[in-house]
Amino acid sequence: MAIVELKNVAKRYESQHKGSSSNNAVDNFNLVTRDGEFVVLVGPSGCGKSTTMRMIAGLERNTGGEILIGGKDVSQVPPKERDIAMVFQSYALYPHMSVAENMGFSLRLKKRPAEEIKQKIDEAAQTLGIEHLLDRKPRELSGGQRQRVALGRAIVRNPQVFLMDEPLSNLDAKLRVDMRAEIVKLHKRLNVTTFYVTHDQVEAMTMGERIVVMKDGEIQQIDTPINLYDFPANRFVAGFIGNPSMNFLRARHADGAVSGPGFAFTLDAAHTQAMASRRVVDVWVGVRPEHLRIGDAAGANRVEGTVDVVETLGAVTMVQLSVGEHVVTAQLPGHQTVRIGDTLTLTCDSDKLHLFDSESELAIGRESAAASSATAEA
Ligand SMILES: Nc1ncnc2c1ncn2[C@@H]1O[C@H](COP(=O)(O)OP(=O)(O)OP(=O)(O)O)[C@@H](O)[C@H]1O
Ligand SMILES: [Mg+2]
Repeated sequence: MAIVELKNVAKRYESQHKGSSSNNAVDNFNLVTRDGEFVVLVGPSGCGKSTTMRMIAGLERNTGGEILIGGKDVSQVPPKERDIAMVFQSYALYPHMSVAENMGFSLRLKKRPAEEIKQKIDEAAQTLGIEHLLDRKPRELSGGQRQRVALGRAIVRNPQVFLMDEPLSNLDAKLRVDMRAEIVKLHKRLNVTTFYVTHDQVEAMTMGERIVVMKDGEIQQIDTPINLYDFPANRFVAGFIGNPSMNFLRARHADGAVSGPGFAFTLDAAHTQAMASRRVVDVWVGVRPEHLRIGDAAGANRVEGTVDVVETLGAVTMVQLSVGEHVVTAQLPGHQTVRIGDTLTLTCDSDKLHLFDSESELAIGRESAAASSATAEA
């Protein structure tokens, strides 16, 4: 267990374009973990998640900033001395070794006594429910079982830090959900500081104590899952966290209301106050699909459009409608008698709305109480 600190960490690959600093694979990465925290890094492909992990592991040198593990600057410490265990997407088990041999490999390298190795393997195998597989070869295992062995191989090392880079992406959807719950349970038991990379926002929301949302090598926001959902710092985070994604409507502000073709909303006190102190007139209004419900055409808060798509999923009905230039998705409860081509009016409570500056795309007038967000410059 250890606190991991990243101070202004940056990575620039030699092959990257010269000139603008925005080409850094990772830039300005600042984070201090709690001892034993589960931190999830999330963001679209190429945003710098793996690069960050590889720098913590020491497989890649950071070209800027400092990385401290347990208070110690590790920039000169080679990977194998960093006391970190990694589980990556390609878990690369040795095919000619049994499960037990794979799991004990790193301990044999360290010349640990045979008895200790056996005991650690047995413990880890029990934790992961793979005691009955110890004599098998990797090719005789299912994907989920191989995944467990890869985890087991990491656990036996009893590291200070776990790094997991999309460890579940080779598994089918059902198994992913099961393994995700197991990794969370495992973390509760072992309480080892863990960095977990995914580009699946559901995985991020369900696993992370804190989530780091990245884009183009820069941190967009660091916060708890709920704060990211309730108080996204900018439009990118708002659109990335939440499933289905938040709707964004281009709107104009006037007199405590925002409106555009096909919609109008009155603002709550917080938004009204925030807008009063600004000169901006053009904003993005953000509305989550699950916050929309059937409304009436005379209501103060309304979105009106033509229904294009209706998906009846059982528990909910997903409806897409064209509202002016926008396509708006609504998640309505239960079964709905909406049909394609209908004109539909929806509503949303003012305190569920999000506003974003149309230029900087930063959130207006709702801030996370945690205030731990590191917002990227526009
Ligand atoms: N060895 C390298 N040389 C040059 N550029 C690299 C190298 N490795 C990664 N990059 C670049 O650095 C950026 C970040 O890559 P990284 O692998 O960290 O992304 P990622 O967030 O892990 O993406 P994914 O979700 O696809 O795994 C990308 O633009 C990538 O092209
Ligand atoms: Mg990656």
